[in-house]
Amino acid sequence: MPTVVRDLMSAPAVTCEAGTSLAEVARTMRDAGIGSVIVTERGKVAGILTERDLLRAAAAATVASAESVELWMTANPDVLGPDEEVGAAWISLAHHNYRHLPVVDGHELVGVVSLRDLMGMARLRPADEHGTEIPAGLEGVVAAETELGDVRGEEGFFHYRRYSAVDLAARRSLEDVWYLLLEGELPDAGEARRFAADVAQRRALTPGLAEMLPEVAKQGSPFEVLRTAVSLLGAELGWRPTHDIDGAELRAQTLRLCSVVPTIMAAAYNLGEGRAPVEPRTDLSSAANYLWMVTGEEPTPLDARAVEQYQILTIDHGFNASTFTARVITSTGADLAAAVCGAIGALSGPLHGGAPSRALAMLDEIGSADQADSWLRGAVERGDRVMGFGHRVYKTDDPRSLFLRDVARFLGGPLVELAEKVERTAVDVLADMKPGRRLFTNVEFYAGVVMSTCGLPREMFTPTFAAGRVIGWSAHVIEQAAHNRLIRPSARYTGPSPPVPVPDP
Ligand SMILES: CC(C)(COP(=O)(O)OP(=O)(O)OC[C@H]1O[C@@H](n2cnc3c(N)ncnc32)[C@H](O)[C@@H]1OP(=O)(O)O)[C@@H](O)C(=O)NCCC(=O)NCCS
Repeated sequence: MPTVVRDLMSAPAVTCEAGTSLAEVARTMRDAGIGSVIVTERGKVAGILTERDLLRAAAAATVASAESVELWMTANPDVLGPDEEVGAAWISLAHHNYRHLPVVDGHELVGVVSLRDLMGMARLRPADEHGTEIPAGLEGVVAAETELGDVRGEEGFFHYRRYSAVDLAARRSLEDVWYLLLEGELPDAGEARRFAADVAQRRALTPGLAEMLPEVAKQGSPFEVLRTAVSLLGAELGWRPTHDIDGAELRAQTLRLCSVVPTIMAAAYNLGEGRAPVEPRTDLSSAANYLWMVTGEEPTPLDARAVEQYQILTIDHGFNASTFTARVITSTGADLAAAVCGAIGALSGPLHGGAPSRALAMLDEIGSADQADSWLRGAVERGDRVMGFGHRVYKTDDPRSLFLRDVARFLGGPLVELAEKVERTAVDVLADMKPGRRLFTNVEFYAGVVMSTCGLPREMFTPTFAAGRVIGWSAHVIEQAAHNRLIRPSARYTGPSPPVPVPDP
């Protein structure tokens, strides 16, 4: 039911007669706390006198006790019907710059609508509508505009800028895609060389981090260490709020951050294993250097390229939870480190970036292909999520998973064979037990298989994801800061009705 004027109006309207003095009307308005009085003649509306009219009279040095309302009122004002929709009231008030309108039923005055009534309405209505219309988890809600890329879930397609992300993973380096996200264009050969050399120079730990990491690494996993280290990095380098710096300064900060993140995680891993961190090299690509720092061995070109392709595929992916988090934090004007610490926290959850090691643990538990059906049915019956399956946006094959399955096949090995068989069984089991939900493998299922086959230990799976995704977060931070508006939605209050008296202690 649309809201009509009757729902909002104040009734009965306060009235006076045309001969009443201005002084008396002013007193009435003050005592009733209202901004207008309807002037009536034999019960019909003859005019309206508002605060504005009183001001005009005062400015003309009128003697209020002597002048009558009739001289200063607006005669024959526009009126509204009680059953008109409030939209009409808005238009009338806004169009004529009125603050009050009498409400008339036939010839009878039944109330008055003020701008204040409508303002109250305007505050209430959006909250009500959003509460009913916005789906839980904000599914399908457009929360911002971006030029960085998009995901088309029904088609199984996603892109960075105007290129298919899968084509980029097949044909370009991580550094080229990084450049694309920052600059909006792919680099030519010279730009690519200069950019790759520039970011390679920025890989070393800062002195403060180098000193503190051995202590921090005693406390947690490499990914937990990263969360702390990014905060330390921002403090050490004196990163100021995005609100206070220009785009060039923020861009330079993101280059330093994205270059040093892999070094931090590799150092944390080695320190956790009781070894000294491996110094980064500038002669290797980002992915090859990362594997070098984690394993202490120069990787084969095949392994380096597989990890690089995984990282390209996961650089960015629409308004996923961690990217949204980074943008929300940036929207407050906070600094880059704050935004990325928040994003790291969001990524750590098993429903987001924490899945690949769990998917691999599942393969371990299943053990052999002939166990897959009964193991998976048991898990779904218990209400467990099958890790590496299902996606909020993709309702068909996740293109990243298809690509990584090919990468995994190319690398080969018994784990890959088992994974493919389990995938087929899981798709069938989920279709059977969760009909209509359209659950397929997501990026995480083959991510763990590929990373493990390339020699990365499990605790480095989510960090490896983050080492690429930090580039996407950074691009979003830059974009948010450049076109900022505070992100501040509403919530529907569902608790007991307030206010109740506060009990004495
Ligand atoms: C990714 C994920 C969180 C998306 O969730 P979502 O869009 O919120 O989907 P929902 O939680 O609404 O799930 C819809 C239905 O499918 C089921 N479902 C979704 N993913 C499932 C999975 N992996 N295993 C079993 N059932 C699953 C849900 O139980 C639900 O069933 P119901 O309608 O009977 O309650 C979810 O698919 C999931 O938990 N996957 C496993 C974790 C994972 O792989 N994460 C990495 C993501 S890249």
